This record gives sequence, C-alpha cells and structure tokens, in this order.
Amino acid sequence: MKFNVVVLAGDGIGPEICEATIEVMEAVGKKYGHAFNWKHELVGGASIDKHGVALTDEALDLCKKSDAVLFGAVGGPKWDDPTAKVRPEQGILIVRKGLGLFANLRPIKMYPQLVNATNLKPEVVKGVDLIFVRELTGGLYYGRPRKTYQTSRGRRAIDTMVYSEKEIERVVRVGFELARGRRKKLTSVDKANVLECSRLWRQIATELAAQYPDVALEHMYVDACSMRLIQSPASFDVLVTENTFGDILTDEGSMLAGSLGMLPSASLAGLPKEDVKTLGLYEPGHGSAPKRAGLNMANPLATILSAAMMLRYSFALPKEAKAVEDAVVKVLEEGYRTYDLMSEGMKKVGTREMGKLIAERI
Ligand code: IPM
Ligand code: MG
Repeated sequence: MKFNVVVLAGDGIGPEICEATIEVMEAVGKKYGHAFNWKHELVGGASIDKHGVALTDEALDLCKKSDAVLFGAVGGPKWDDPTAKVRPEQGILIVRKGLGLFANLRPIKMYPQLVNATNLKPEVVKGVDLIFVRELTGGLYYGRPRKTYQTSRGRRAIDTMVYSEKEIERVVRVGFELARGRRKKLTSVDKANVLECSRLWRQIATELAAQYPDVALEHMYVDACSMRLIQSPASFDVLVTENTFGDILTDEGSMLAGSLGMLPSASLAGLPKEDVKTLGLYEPGHGSAPKRAGLNMANPLATILSAAMMLRYSFALPKEAKAVEDAVVKVLEEGYRTYDLMSEGMKKVGTREMGKLIAERI
C-alpha cells in the first residue's frame, strides 16, 4: 500500500528524531511492501523564522489531505519571549485543532530492560502498562476569553476552561472502548470537588458507564491520581482526562517508563474502525531539547514508537506496528541505550545509530 505522510520535524532535536524514524519506516516499507511518500513542512520556530507564523495555512492543508502526520518537536530559547505574539507551540496546537484530533493516546509501558533507568524502585514500576486518553482540543488550551489586560489595579490575565457535553462524551467513549480491549478498567480523572467542568465530566462518564457494563469505571481526583501514579502505577489500565490534567499527568507518567524519551503518542478523531485508514498525528511526548540539538544524542524511541502507532491506528497495519515494537525491545535487550537511558554495562549509542539498529531488526 501507499501512504502520504507529512513530516513536521520542527525545532531542536525534532529533525534528528524524525530522520531516525523515517529510516525505520522505510525498513518496514521494504519488508512488507509499502511505500511512504514523505512530505516535509516547517513548523514551530523554523516556520516562524521563514514565514512569520508557527504553521502556514498551506502546511495545514497538506496535513488535512495526508494519511498521517509525523511530528517532531517545537520550541527553543530563540522563540521563548513570553510577550511574543507568535510562539512555536502554536504550530502543534493548530494541527491538533485543525484536524479535529480530540483524543490523544499516550501509552506508558515499563520495559523490563529499562528497570535500571528509572528513578523509582523496580518493585514499584514492575508491570506498568497503562494508557492515557488525554482530551486534546478543548479546555484551557482553547477556551475563550483568554487574554492579559490592564486594569486600574494592575495587570490581569484570564484563561477559560470550558467543555461541552459532546466534547466530554466522545473522548470518554474512547477511554471505554480502549479499556474494553484491554484489562477492562477505566479511571476517569477530574477535579469534581472544585471545578464545574469536572462535575459535568464525572456525570457524563457515569452515564456512559451504563453502555459499558463490562468495564469497571472509577473516578479519581487529579491530585490523588498524581500521587497514585507513583505509589501504585501498575494498578492503572486506561485513564481518561481533560487537556491540562492530561498534559501534566503524562509527563509524570513518562518517568515510570524510565525517560520522557520513551513516551509515544497518537492523536486521533476517535478510534478507527478496523481496516480503515484514519488520519492521525503522531508525536513523541517530549519537547525539542534544544541543548541536545544537532549532537546526535537524542533518544528517538518515542518517535519510533509513535510511528508504530501510526501503522496501527492510521494505516490499519497491526503486524507492521508490532514489528517495530518488537525491534525496539530487541535493541533494548541487546543493551543499546541513548544517553538518557544509560546505566552500567550498557552500550551507549546516538540517535542515528539507534534508528539504524532498529531498522536492521525489522
Ligand atoms: C505536550 C506538550 C504540548 C502541550 C506543548 C508543546 C504545547 O507539552 O504535547 O504535552 O502542552 O500539549
Ligand atoms: Mg506536555
């Protein structure tokens, strides 16, 4: 089969991790007889420098017409002025919203090979295999009004958290559907003791539960959840939560897997039906790591594992997805590590080498 993929490599380590990922995907294409047509577009700081905006309308259009988007990372000190009107992060926010990708899947899995790379005790992280469903196109990130303004008593700023019933329902449903195919447990994370949005969220999750009698639904406050993630992470299966909570909890969660460099993600407009091509956005959970940029140091595994999700969710190619995931495990088993995962006795490799090692094992 043939697939059109837009590559938004972005800033910092973005281009390097995308390059390593493309090498792996090309190996998949070769082995399984698929052709990928990679179209590169600027995003983030790189796009601001050239076009004055974090993503051009043309680039967004191209994304809309593609089969999938591979995203690297955006941002860096050069564009960090908090008063700036255009910011690199707008690039990713425009793609998410522009493509209607409301469900952000972030799986967190403890690879036994990496047990020495985490800061947590092995017995705590053992068996961690959970997946976050983060609402991605609503809440504080997009709510209006949002502005900073002058008052007689000084400056004020306002952001708005707003959710409609429909927005909540469709994403919580993704949580239930995923749980159904896994260990049948769904944790809905909110702050219903304080926030109106969370109270509506909880009500809707409870109502939906009637349609999924095979899934055990629990509600958890976000503060308690952040604690439980460290205390007993293996007790979670699927978690569903709103945009900002999901942003914070998934960074925390990534530490369970040893490194932020291990956190892949898929952003979708709902779970695809079997065997149907579905547009999605695939990006690592980490940032652009400007200090590591251009040094052939960055860990490309989160991006490579995101590409595996692309194969599974956007291209309906589960066998190929598994081949990538298996190759990652194999390379880890053989003791290859990027700097962020290094522990005693392991073999240190750079971004390119890591990509090549995985490509060779497809
Ligand atoms: C993430 C990132 C983004 C977010 C930033 C870069 C806008 O932190 O994907 O988690 O907050 O969603
Ligand atoms: Mg984040």
